[in-house]
Amino acid sequence: MKSADLVVTNCNQLITCKGPIPKRKEALQDIGCITDATIASLDGTIIFIGTEKECHNEVSLNKNGVQIDGKGKIGLPGFVDSHTHLPFAGSREDEFLLRLKGFTYLQLAAKGLGIQTTVKATRQASSQELLSLCLSRLDSMLLHGTTTAEAKSGYGLNTKDELKQLKVIKEANRMHPIDLASTFLGAHEIPMEYKSNKSEYIELIIREMLPKIKRQNLAEFFDIFCEKGVYSVDDTRKLVEAAQKSGLKIKIHTDEFSALGGAELAAEVNATSAEHLIAITQDGMAALSESSTAAILLPGVSFFLMLDKTAPARRLIDLGTIVALATDFNPGSSMTESMFFILQLAVFTLKMGVEEAINATTANAAYAISRQNIVGSLELGKKMDLLLCDVPNYAYLGYHIGINPITHVIKNGKIVVKNGQRIINSAPG
Ligand code: NIG
Ligand code: FE
Repeated sequence: MKSADLVVTNCNQLITCKGPIPKRKEALQDIGCITDATIASLDGTIIFIGTEKECHNEVSLNKNGVQIDGKGKIGLPGFVDSHTHLPFAGSREDEFLLRLKGFTYLQLAAKGLGIQTTVKATRQASSQELLSLCLSRLDSMLLHGTTTAEAKSGYGLNTKDELKQLKVIKEANRMHPIDLASTFLGAHEIPMEYKSNKSEYIELIIREMLPKIKRQNLAEFFDIFCEKGVYSVDDTRKLVEAAQKSGLKIKIHTDEFSALGGAELAAEVNATSAEHLIAITQDGMAALSESSTAAILLPGVSFFLMLDKTAPARRLIDLGTIVALATDFNPGSSMTESMFFILQLAVFTLKMGVEEAINATTANAAYAISRQNIVGSLELGKKMDLLLCDVPNYAYLGYHIGINPITHVIKNGKIVVKNGQRIINSAPG
């Protein structure tokens, strides 16, 4: 008999998203759905998946263990949000109203609004203020099913404030149930002080920021905005080489508005992911499809900026690219913490199947932040990060739009959301 401290019995459907991971082409449709399934864990690790009868014979629940009735519900892996700009201060609803009057995101950025507005607010915020903003956003993410997330700096754009953001991410990771992967995005924009001297800022990143981040172990990934008017492919190559020498894995914001060749570069330097890709070319798609670099698509951006174009998800999938989905949660181009909303946008605007969107928000999303051996699928030995949804079958995740069907979120074997409410200091699981 194996002992368990949490058992969830008789789920109508358990969507396991089991491997091999990453999933390409037709494999992206395979969600490993088991009907009438029971799942159990001990100390946060999954130890059993099968029928209730098998569970009865193989697993005994500890004295203080918890049992949840999954009848009438479906279970699926916690969402992995592989691209967020979590630690920002301020908000940009004024800019949003201007966009509704016809100004474009890039026009506003050229006026010094956009990212620079958030840089000002984030520089002014204390670490404590930034931390409390992060914690309440993480609660909101958790209520919408995210159990692991990536978080980028990029609104400091100087050594002090980039490090401040990264330290806040580290502290938020320690304090909150959501596990965070930390990304240094010092090359998010060119700071106002360096507008006419970009190469000096690039040198500052290489000579000062990267060594400090490495010494203090503040980031796992390096990211850069490779875009017309921001960082060129040559700038990106130079910074990526320096970041790799510092031991950081690579992510690249690229082909959001214009295709400079950043997707090709991402494949060439063996980046973990290339992100956005609304404007990706045939060559960029060919390069990514033959690589082990994940394409993180962010349909919230095309929707929020009301662009005519979306990332060519169907073509990318057909070519065999590793496709993941994320919120891009940020105050300017995608103000949402909800991976459910993103899953539904992927279905309705990127024409992805519900099964594909489920895998792209879980298994492939975990791959896109190098966490595929720990989370993103429900398999023996992986973390018990489980969502229970009050829907009869998985099709409802795409079909019943605009509501949050989650009743329970279990993170690392602990109930952190129950009946749709955030639970703090819960017993086990
Ligand atoms: O991923 N493209 C660059 N960065 C963000 C937007 C950040 C902002 O507008 O504050 C993005 O869309
Ligand atoms: Fe982004």
